[in-house]
Amino acid sequence: MIRISPTDRVFILTGAGISAESGIPTFRGVGGLWRNRRVEEVASAEAWQRDPRMVWDFYSMRRRVATTAKPNPGHEALARLEQSLQDRLFLCTQNVDDLHEQAGSVRVVHMHGELFKSRCDRCDRAPFDDSAAYEPPRPIPRCHCGGKIRPHICWFGEIPYDLDKIATALDDCTVFIAIGTSGLVQPAASFVARVRGAARTIYVGPEEPANTFAFTDCYWGKAGELLPNLFHSA
Ligand code: OAD
Repeated sequence: MIRISPTDRVFILTGAGISAESGIPTFRGVGGLWRNRRVEEVASAEAWQRDPRMVWDFYSMRRRVATTAKPNPGHEALARLEQSLQDRLFLCTQNVDDLHEQAGSVRVVHMHGELFKSRCDRCDRAPFDDSAAYEPPRPIPRCHCGGKIRPHICWFGEIPYDLDKIATALDDCTVFIAIGTSGLVQPAASFVARVRGAARTIYVGPEEPANTFAFTDCYWGKAGELLPNLFHSA
């Protein structure tokens, strides 16, 4: 049981593991390859330059899978926690699906972007809602400026979104909880080291993350099974 006092401020970092029970595959581990390629080979600015068709094939597949996915009890538990803590909860996700929002979470920071948004790779047009699949024979979409429309995703080699807001929330928090993330992708993997000493650090998931040493408490199991009964807020 994680006790949350009236003065605690909670930072939650979620990863692909929280959506696994909703049928969205994780990036690493069993089933983590796509057409025998590692995610780093598909989700990068270089891949986009070299082969935008292949990149859109990958994100079109992810859009199709995520379109039918529904939030699981893990997402729902975090939405309830937000209702009770309000702005004392900061929910930062590495996930690009919208399952936290579907479950009722309101203030979600998507540091790696959003699957159902696209943007131009050339002009500064704002990201826009887009749930289409662009697979052959459909051409790669084009912007009115002539640039290519790309998924609104932070790829390897790019800078994650909202890092200023995230840094402030990390420095403010008294409880840090990482859920379903392998601890391998920076900068998210180093958040726990930044808050260690100033906040309680807790991990929730079925396997040890790479940065396991930085957590003071670990709850081993599936997010959808553990989270509904994990929090006790006074
Ligand atoms: P990974 O695929 O690296 O790790 C998923 C983690 O979820 C693993 O540690 C699993 O043990 C855990 N897991 C599996 N099932 C779970 C369950 N039911 N409940 C809880 N945990 C479970 O995913 P991330 O760490 O999120 O970035 O990956 C980080 C980033 O790498 C992603 O955001 C993505 C990827 O490249 C971009 O696309 C930019």
